[in-house]
Amino acid sequence: MDHFLYRDGVLHAEDVAITEIAAKVGTPFYVYSTATLTRHFQVFDDALKGMDHLICYAMKANSNIAVLKTLGDLGAGMDVVSGGEYMRAKAAGVPGDRIVFSGVGKTADEMKLALTGGIRQFNVESEPELDRLNEVAMSLGLVAPITVRVNPDVDAKTHAKIATGKSENKFGIPIRQARDVYAKAAKMDGIEIVGIDVHIGSQLTDLEPFRQAYLKVRDLTEQLRADGHNIRRLDLGGGLGIPYERSNSAPPLPVDYGQVIRETVGDLGCEIEIEPGRLLAGNAGLLVSSVIYNKNGDGRDFLIIDAAMNDLIRPAMYEAYHDIIPVIEPAVAAGSNPIDIVGPVCETGDTFAKQRDMPAVADGEMVAFRSAGAYGAVMSSEYNTRPMIPEVLVKGDQFAVIRARPSFEEMIKRDTVPEWV
Ligand code: LLP
Repeated sequence: MDHFLYRDGVLHAEDVAITEIAAKVGTPFYVYSTATLTRHFQVFDDALKGMDHLICYAMKANSNIAVLKTLGDLGAGMDVVSGGEYMRAKAAGVPGDRIVFSGVGKTADEMKLALTGGIRQFNVESEPELDRLNEVAMSLGLVAPITVRVNPDVDAKTHAKIATGKSENKFGIPIRQARDVYAKAAKMDGIEIVGIDVHIGSQLTDLEPFRQAYLKVRDLTEQLRADGHNIRRLDLGGGLGIPYERSNSAPPLPVDYGQVIRETVGDLGCEIEIEPGRLLAGNAGLLVSSVIYNKNGDGRDFLIIDAAMNDLIRPAMYEAYHDIIPVIEPAVAAGSNPIDIVGPVCETGDTFAKQRDMPAVADGEMVAFRSAGAYGAVMSSEYNTRPMIPEVLVKGDQFAVIRARPSFEEMIKRDTVPEWV
């Protein structure tokens, strides 16, 4: 459920008309709903009720500080994958003991930053990383709390570019080698083992792969405990999918996902961590864009809009589907016609939808992309020297720009021309 509904014929974000925001900030822009973010967090929290747990928001999905603070103030921890994300989490007021550090390529500098600033745990993804972390921690006279991310070799049944739990993927340590790696870690003075981590992919629409992976983690927990390790925390990753195509998709609910956790690892006496990104932020955001031209091609019609692949790359990168709706509610009797919805960037891949059934939207009118709150703004770029678009946060009848659109001057002055050019 989200809080983007038509009211008096105009799409609203909570109590604010999209047209009002557009008049203030211009298009294109992203808009996020505080009520939706809050609701999604609470739904997850409820799903894990009765189990000692921490929801560590995978902030790569949307790392605007205002979004992080909204979730952090509700009690969320953060899953970070870079020094920059760590600094953002801190800037949003999230304490180090609620920050977990994931990623296959953590550098010594990033380890140092997190060790000195405070960290709940590192999710270690390889033996060389374990060695490096041990060295860095010892050089600082500190001890790094770790889980080892295991690769359970489970097919997540999602888009190949976002599946992470098969043995051919670069992520984690093959689960068969895990006992050896734990044995090695236990001997290191700079390392303290706290648990196990697993993450098998993103936009999963079936609970079965989670169940398979968590059962493997269960077996490993028992083996490692028998080996003498104090396994007290399980980080079960993120990945639960959202309904992008409202008309025909219904991914499992967090409550059912919570039940899988309960059934597979709920009785091990471990603290449970999960790292959802998309499910918290995805349906809490819209991308709003204006139609520049209706163009009639040879047997094909195009809606050319002012947002492009640099603003939302998911359709170009993963053939992802986003619902696109007019901001002014179409009349009940209005028909719809197939049209290609495209951006102004000079690439054929700058196509958001092909032959999509849409009611007529005239030049100058607006459309909204649903489910754009996750992996939208964070994956944007300035390709074609298009300024990064503003982000707006709504709460009830209030709204605020939480990242402003840079001017052309601001963009250009970031480059420097050496005197010898
Ligand atoms: N934990 C780890 C270690 C991850 O790598 C990810 C996502 C998550 C948690 C959060 O997964 P989520 O709950 O959001 O599915 N850009 C792609 C998605 C990439 C996901 C990368 N890792 C997209 O737009 O679909």
